[in-house]
Amino acid sequence: MSAGRGRFIAFEGGEGAGKSTQVGLLAEALRAMGLAVVTTREPGGTPGAEAIRNLLLAPPSQAGWTPQTEALLFAAARADHVAHLIRPALARGEWVICDRFVDSSRAYQGGAGGLGDGAILALHAFGSDGLRPDRVILLEAGEGALAERLAARGAELDAIEGRSAEYHRAVAAAFRALAEDDPQSFARIEATGTPKEVHARILTALADLLP
Ligand code: TYD
Repeated sequence: MSAGRGRFIAFEGGEGAGKSTQVGLLAEALRAMGLAVVTTREPGGTPGAEAIRNLLLAPPSQAGWTPQTEALLFAAARADHVAHLIRPALARGEWVICDRFVDSSRAYQGGAGGLGDGAILALHAFGSDGLRPDRVILLEAGEGALAERLAARGAELDAIEGRSAEYHRAVAAAFRALAEDDPQSFARIEATGTPKEVHARILTALADLLP
């Protein structure tokens, strides 16, 4: 059991920025400091939210989801994840490191998808009582990273990865705008370099939260 207060850290960014590698490295570093750490991801993280994840990434109907339905499903998955995993862990004093959180919905559905930030924030207020991370690590990788990841995966793209380059550019622009509007909450991290170099930048960006 960790001493003191748990913190909630979210990783954000486009596809292929190395988020999951960095989540793992950060968890290891925090555990080495004696902190209790839970790592998780969105969409998903609990059995209910993982079931919704499958619906989102492989829509059962060829017609896919409307932008509104998609936003509701992400918000529903998040509500389950917050209620059953994130809040209980924080209440126990643990650190929670999450691969994507509500700012993904703001950038993908609200920004690139055109629903607007107000709609996404309203869903988040209803579903998850507006829970905010203590810090958002925004990994910025440039356009090449997505292209490389897509090439490496061949045809196996999910319903969101497979969207146009223009959509993914709009996602990156939306993340940038969110970070510029709220520099207290967001740390923009250059995601190029070795995983170790990026990890060191992230630790620096979290220094004020560490014990
Ligand atoms: P995932 O395979 O986890 O992508 P990544 O490894 O890049 O994080 O799939 C999640 C996909 O869902 C990803 O394309 C981003 C998208 N997404 C949204 O559109 N809105 C959201 O709120 C979240 C959490 C994810």
